[in-house]
Amino acid sequence: MVDFYFNNTVRPRRSLLSVPAINKRALAKLMTLDCDGVIFDLEDSVAPDLKDEARDNLLTFFKDTPLAGRETIIRINPVSVNVGQRDLKAALECGPNAILLPKVEQPSQIQDVADLLAEADAPDDIKIWAMIETPKGILNAASIAESSHTEAARLGAFVVGLNDLRKATHVPAQPGRAYLVPWLMQTVLAARAYGLDVFDSVSNDFYDLDAFAAECDQGRAMGFDGKMLIHPAQIDAANQAFAPTEEALAEAREIIAAFAKPESVGLNVINSNGRMIERVHVGQAERLVAMAEIIAQRKAEKP
Ligand code: COA
Ligand code: MG
Repeated sequence: MVDFYFNNTVRPRRSLLSVPAINKRALAKLMTLDCDGVIFDLEDSVAPDLKDEARDNLLTFFKDTPLAGRETIIRINPVSVNVGQRDLKAALECGPNAILLPKVEQPSQIQDVADLLAEADAPDDIKIWAMIETPKGILNAASIAESSHTEAARLGAFVVGLNDLRKATHVPAQPGRAYLVPWLMQTVLAARAYGLDVFDSVSNDFYDLDAFAAECDQGRAMGFDGKMLIHPAQIDAANQAFAPTEEALAEAREIIAAFAKPESVGLNVINSNGRMIERVHVGQAERLVAMAEIIAQRKAEKP
């Protein structure tokens, strides 16, 4: 299979399940779950007195548990406080794919962690992800995203956090998220301007799966790559909503096939059954097909 470096190597990130690092029972359940990634939380879901125990849980978990192909992300406390420094040290011992920083509001917060990772000789492939979840985070999303283009930054993705944002802005939770959409779209735009992946916020109600599926569809329509989840019951809906649709795949295959024809050599636009298609879209089409192949392969490998 081909690797594509449009942004990162193509990998599905439809469903990122958050699990409090203090919850051993939930950690043990992860092996059986079909999420694309796991966010191990050392921040808000772990009480202050239990941070040491939570870090120990993670060290044991990473030593003992093969998470077969799934991405691992550890959310730490801010490194401006001691607890965050200790989280970072433990996270580096675990060796996740990414470290997720809470409440990022300015580029220097990314750079500070990048510097600490460099000092610790952390492998280059450990990325930094940023929670965008405060008014300043939304306002500064573009300059934060831009910092992914400096040499040492390692920034790979944004995750939107609406629980904190709603609290800070006094915008209540409502079906359809009408008054939050402008801020969600601003974050998507900032991420796309600098080639970052971007993930929609958690949804707190894990009993109403119809409402959750509708929110996944909305997130997909807004351009998000996937969604942060809080409960296993939410995985299927996210996997379905953020996978390439049959329709999009058919179109992608049509574009690839049309430009592979000998008569298309040298042409940048062609007529495909009365519709203009452009050569500049071939790369994106190949990426979509590769994504669908990875998802199908993973499904086939499931025990
Ligand atoms: N990851 C893995 N497994 C989970 C899970 C998660 N996030 N949430 C629940 N489970 C497991 C439970 O351990 C339980 O497992 P069991 O069948 O072995 O007993 C099963 O799924 C059913 O759980 P349920 O009883 O419905 O929920 P709960 O009362 O145990 O937990 C929450 C509900 C909200 C406390 C829990 O889902 C949770 O902590 N979610 C993540 C919260 C978080 O990460 N917050 C920070 C980001 S906003
Ligand atoms: Mg938060």
